[in-house]
Amino acid sequence: MKRIALFASGNGTNVQRIAEYFKDNPGVEISAVFTNNPNAGVLKRCAALGLTAVIFTKNDFYNSNKIVDMVKALNVDLVVLAGFLLLVPGNFIKEFKNRIINIHPALLPKYGGKGMYGHHVHEAVIKNKEKKSGITIHYVNEHYDEGQTIFQTEVTVADNETPESLAEKIHKSEYEHFPVVIEKLLSGF
Ligand code: GAR
Repeated sequence: MKRIALFASGNGTNVQRIAEYFKDNPGVEISAVFTNNPNAGVLKRCAALGLTAVIFTKNDFYNSNKIVDMVKALNVDLVVLAGFLLLVPGNFIKEFKNRIINIHPALLPKYGGKGMYGHHVHEAVIKNKEKKSGITIHYVNEHYDEGQTIFQTEVTVADNETPESLAEKIHKSEYEHFPVVIEKLLSGF
């Protein structure tokens, strides 16, 4: 049995997609979904999907070993950040070295770093008249969006693209590729 812990801060559509993708696979379990945001849409999705949700504070994350210990106790093979907006602290990275991955809604190293998330990314891409954007799935280190790339794929940015329409294209690509990349990584453990 392979186990995953998911981390999310927002709406949680990727969490839902990943949970649905593995629902009928007895070899993969979503052990828990962690969120730093008690108002996050992901919590409703967890309830609907029957997923265990854990709400934690920034203080728990940055000033204690509480979250590291909780994830350790779940015996997970992989920690997946799916729309998670906090920088992951050193104690967590150290414990789960090369076992934490993130999805970013752009072609890193472009449009990454602090403050570059969700619609901010798409607004910047359109403002700079980019012809393409995409998704990047990468390992996580102590710096925002800087770990080694695992997978990247492009989407076209149309002349009349809006941040909303681009977000939709990017999400579609994320739903298609993220679970498959996770499955591939798990099969290598
Ligand atoms: C996704 O597009 C993800 O790539 C992005 O947030 C969105 C979350 O959507 N992540 C980042 O911007 C991280 N820097 P969701 O909550 O509906 O899955």
